[in-house]
Amino acid sequence: MSDSQPKNTFERLVLATLQEPELYVPGLSVEEASQRYHVSPEKIVKLSSNENPLGPSPDAMKVVESMLTELHRYPDSKALALRAVIGEKEGLTRDNVIFGAGSSEIMSFIIRAFSNPGDEIVCMDPSFSVYTELTKADNRVSVQIPLQPPYQLTKEAVQAVLTERTRVIFLTRPNNPTSCLIPLALFEEIALMAKDAVVVSDEAYVEFADDYRQQTAASLVNKLPNVMVTRTFSKAYGIPNLRIGYALGPANAIQYLFRVKPKWNVGNVAQKAAIAALNDAAHLEKTLKTVSEGRDYLNQAFNAIPGLEVLPGAQGNFIMVKVSGAGMTAEQFTDALGSEGYIIRGDFLPDYVRISIGTMNENQGLIAATQRILEQAS
Ligand SMILES: Cc1ncc(COP(=O)(O)O)c(C=O)c1O
Repeated sequence: MSDSQPKNTFERLVLATLQEPELYVPGLSVEEASQRYHVSPEKIVKLSSNENPLGPSPDAMKVVESMLTELHRYPDSKALALRAVIGEKEGLTRDNVIFGAGSSEIMSFIIRAFSNPGDEIVCMDPSFSVYTELTKADNRVSVQIPLQPPYQLTKEAVQAVLTERTRVIFLTRPNNPTSCLIPLALFEEIALMAKDAVVVSDEAYVEFADDYRQQTAASLVNKLPNVMVTRTFSKAYGIPNLRIGYALGPANAIQYLFRVKPKWNVGNVAQKAAIAALNDAAHLEKTLKTVSEGRDYLNQAFNAIPGLEVLPGAQGNFIMVKVSGAGMTAEQFTDALGSEGYIIRGDFLPDYVRISIGTMNENQGLIAATQRILEQAS
């Protein structure tokens, strides 16, 4: 075999789009952070993955324990009970609901059901890079809408990227990593304009938005012919480790997604824990209050530190802080806080870091640590 020949069959057959490097790099685990920053694991405060600072709903934990003797059973491949509960909560029916191993799995169902190889899948930049990874994995073309500070989307910016091959548009509400929320009225205008594409409102963080019931696009799924909503149990409901999310859409769209979905993609432990988490209104309320108070506190406290500036309009359980005014790159700031035991993300944009909202104790500790690192740097 000459040097120019591929090494084996896999190299010869693999999609060209899969030869590019992986895009989405998950945040460090506590163990990885502990090793990198030489801080013992119990001292690490993880503010890097937009998790629920209060942990899972106690009711969901009880359900998981009670399911141990059921582990040999196959799950309900249609999640009838969970879909009925979600449908009712959203003023829809279970025929408007599909579920997946996290909402990210459903994004892949949407791409595969409603586009062909070579078609264009649109998302914002910066945004959640998993859309682009899934697009490439399915041999579609990723098209980005470039956003500049203050990272607000406009209808014109979407219009500028639409072509006759546009099939799916993922709009992240609130966006990750910017935490900005595209207003519902603008989302609706975009969906009306892009009527030949499926327009998805990714609402992984929507519960954290002020008056979120007024902001969700759920009311549009039966009003417009091309809207879907994805949601997750990974954030406000605090069970990312169980891998469960859902999408809302018109009944015919949901039926097509069921034809793409692997039969037993989500176990009954996750389905039943999700129902318990949905019904635990007290835990959700406590979570939303913790996040909203923490977000207000961190906004005010970071903005009071010379050289630091919070990106306005945060509506998720995280904020973006501009650190270049303090004479540091995002990476330097992230490493300096890491050495203090606070794990954040500095690898999305050169001037900004992304910080998840913690408990009030964690938030106050973070501000004190920030003051220490800036004193050392000056
Ligand atoms: C914007 C956005 N959407 C979706 C997800 C995926 O969530 P999951 O697959 O856990 O439901 C994330 C996870 O971080 C996210 O940031």
